[in-house]
Amino acid sequence: MKEIHRGRGIHQEHFDRVAEHLTAALLAAGVPGPTTDTIIAAVAPLADDIVTPDTAATR
Ligand code: HEM
Repeated sequence: MKEIHRGRGIHQEHFDRVAEHLTAALLAAGVPGPTTDTIIAAVAPLADDIVTPDTAATR
């Protein structure tokens, strides 16, 4: 996960935007709010492996 994502210039704002869209898509598909919250809570910690640190080179 880390090798694939980090260094691709994906920043926290991008990760957060994807999480917003995922939330909206799950709710629109009829997934209950508490279940959606559980899914987002499972995905959120993956940001550490996906987001390119601000101090790192983007490539
Ligand atoms: C929780 C969030 C995410 C998960 C679980 C996830 C999961 C994955 C997985 C499983 C792969 C395939 C890895 C492989 O081929 O071995 C992948 C590839 C990739 N992901 Fe993510 N991803 C997430 C978020 C993001 C975000 C936010 C972006 C960009 C905005 C992104 C961009 C990409 C790109 C560019 C690839 C490589 C595609 C390719 O060249 O084949 N990912 N991701």
